[in-house]
Amino acid sequence: MRQKLIAGNWKMNCLKADGLALAKAVAEKTATAGDMPIEVLICPPMSLLGLVCDLPHAGLKIGSEDVAEAPKSFGAFTGDVSAEMVKDLGADYAIVGHSERRTLHGETDAVVKTKAENAIKAGLRAIICIGETEAERDEGRALDVVATQIKGSVPAIATAENCVIAYEPVWAIGTGKTPTVADVAEVHAAIRQELTDLLGADIANGMRVLYGGSVKPSNAKELLAVDNVDGALIGGASLKVEDFWAIAESQL
Ligand code: PGA
Repeated sequence: MRQKLIAGNWKMNCLKADGLALAKAVAEKTATAGDMPIEVLICPPMSLLGLVCDLPHAGLKIGSEDVAEAPKSFGAFTGDVSAEMVKDLGADYAIVGHSERRTLHGETDAVVKTKAENAIKAGLRAIICIGETEAERDEGRALDVVATQIKGSVPAIATAENCVIAYEPVWAIGTGKTPTVADVAEVHAAIRQELTDLLGADIANGMRVLYGGSVKPSNAKELLAVDNVDGALIGGASLKVEDFWAIAESQL
């Protein structure tokens, strides 16, 4: 049984005051909810990660939005923050290969795989993002694109415990557009099959595959009920506690 994961990706948002207020508000929700059948995660920007980890956060997981690609945890890599440093702050998860990193920073599948490996070796759970662009979908290549991304970005050391896949069609991110339920089902089934080919059925059947891209309270229930959808990666709606919690609550 795969435990659903409701994950917030704050991106480059929040100063100290509003970021801490948001994290506290989410932490209060999880503390009040008590034992939940789902996992709830927030991923603040690196500037706030240590502060957020230091807040009381019973029942709330915390993650980074990225980790360094560097081959070691310390050294001459100006501006980078290693997975070991992220883990040391008290984080549980790290997002890697978000489409904004792939597009704006030229991160290839090989880079994403190295980052995922670094995260896993540091004791974090890697959330590996994949997804096709609008042009790729229009050309009928969505399934090929995600298959290639899985082969290229999921490391051999991935297991159901240390790795999560997030399917985020690039054209659905921040646009208010979402794929149809049938399209989500088709891609998630294909991802499960690809993971089976790569890692074997045992690992693939236990690994969570999230959907991301314009998830909001009004569509969460429907999207999260699709076969092989094991949670959501949420951008915009994770910045408002009411919206983020409404999505989490739809799974309680
Ligand atoms: P969105 O972003 O929910 O604002 O579409 C999702 C993401 O980029 O992870």
